Amino acid sequence: MNRTITIIPRPLSIEYGDKTIGISKKSVSICINGETRNDIHNTLKTAFKITGIDTSEKGLPVFVDIRIKDNDENNEAYSLNITEEGIRIKAEGINGAFYGCISAGQIISGADGELPQVSISDKPVHSWRGFLLDTCRSFYSTTFIKKMLDACALHKLNILHWHLTDDQGWRFEVPEYPLLTEVGSKRQDNTLPEAIDGFYDEGKESRRWYTDEEIKDIVRYAKERCINIIPEVEFPGHSSALLAAYPEFGCTGGPYHVENRWGIFPDVLCLGNDKIFDIYQAALEKITKLFPSDYIHIGGDECPHERWDVCPKCLERMKKEGLDSTAELQAWGTTKIASMVAALGKTPIGWDEVLENNKHNALPANVIVQSWRGIEGGIKAASMNHKVIMSPCERFYLNFKNKDSFEEPGRLGVTTTKKLYTFSPAGKELKLENPDQKNLILGGECALWTEKLPHSRNAEYLLFPRFCAASETLWLPEEEKDFEDFKVRIEYHKKLLHQLDYRFYEGELE
Ligand code: ACM
Ligand code: ZN
Repeated sequence: MNRTITIIPRPLSIEYGDKTIGISKKSVSICINGETRNDIHNTLKTAFKITGIDTSEKGLPVFVDIRIKDNDENNEAYSLNITEEGIRIKAEGINGAFYGCISAGQIISGADGELPQVSISDKPVHSWRGFLLDTCRSFYSTTFIKKMLDACALHKLNILHWHLTDDQGWRFEVPEYPLLTEVGSKRQDNTLPEAIDGFYDEGKESRRWYTDEEIKDIVRYAKERCINIIPEVEFPGHSSALLAAYPEFGCTGGPYHVENRWGIFPDVLCLGNDKIFDIYQAALEKITKLFPSDYIHIGGDECPHERWDVCPKCLERMKKEGLDSTAELQAWGTTKIASMVAALGKTPIGWDEVLENNKHNALPANVIVQSWRGIEGGIKAASMNHKVIMSPCERFYLNFKNKDSFEEPGRLGVTTTKKLYTFSPAGKELKLENPDQKNLILGGECALWTEKLPHSRNAEYLLFPRFCAASETLWLPEEEKDFEDFKVRIEYHKKLLHQLDYRFYEGELE
């Protein structure tokens, strides 16, 4: 087999011709629908730049003829043909054309003086191909976030799930509640290494939240790369940073502090206090202004109920709402937050705990469930007709170690590249009651939780090559995947990642 096509994620179908086409330079000249300039020229140039290809059109560039029908913007399919005339990409819309350019860029980048004559026909199996980045446990520069958006685009991931609030920091401004950032973004002492994004350290900058301008700039940058950003605001647990800023929203009244430890903490939002919905309303309205996304993630994971059990206000709420236990308070709160999100015209997403204790408050039908404690939450959610995003931690968490060695960064367990690659969100491991429920599995997200990762270089080391494996498992149908073939291609792909300055792990993959 001609190994020149080493694209990751591998295209669905590749047919090789007999010829090869010589190229003298790894640069392209782009023509779109017969014109050399139009409004999407910059977007498609960006796709080539992400693959390290020069678009300055000097010398003898590869001619890329792009035909976009423009009748379905979100269609991600494309075809790509390489002949003696150059490269021809055809797509129904901009997203498919963008991915065609990413593939063309990867082919040119991997070429050694010649391109193979090929015909590629490609489209993803899943519409939801995501990467979660936690910027709370470690705070990263916007430079690094953009670098990760480039990595998403290079691997045809179309979602960045941005984890913006947690015990260790609140990362966006809410004008009515200024202490969320003034107090809630800052840890109180140095029992942790300071969360400085080492490699891209912005030097004098000590602010630990993202300004509106920075967020809007990142959203714009993502859109130019066909990526949608899904913001996450945790509710009702993982809320130490919020409580440090506004202690009146906790059951005991505090004092609280922005956490400088990792873990699950007993102090959570007091669901007996109506005012917590005011602060969430303000936060969600702000999120709606900053993020055009149709979705808002409302968290819901790892929320202990022990404070509620002895809080007069929470017990009163439980009685008033006819709940059998304080555990059911969480389902009551989820219903309320979900309706606030829906009133803002957005669809809520919650971690799989939102499926629990809901005898008296059924999970609203529009809530998408993200399954992280395995795949069971996803199966249960699908059986209840909810849409599902798969992120089972043992397969899709990139903060797990690559291999079982004390020298490796990473925590909580070991996930080899093979263990990740062999998981498919809607594959044979998913035993659904009714096969039609597969349509509810939108796709999946790999995730980087960033405890102990203050330096983005170490984050990159944990990400690659498993991030690449995740992209392929989200792009190809299960029966089309082949780990042995992936192992060969990743050796070529590593050269590209190296050239693009991503650090990666080079040890065992299985
Ligand atoms: C999670 O990892 N707690 C969603
Ligand atoms: Zn309470």
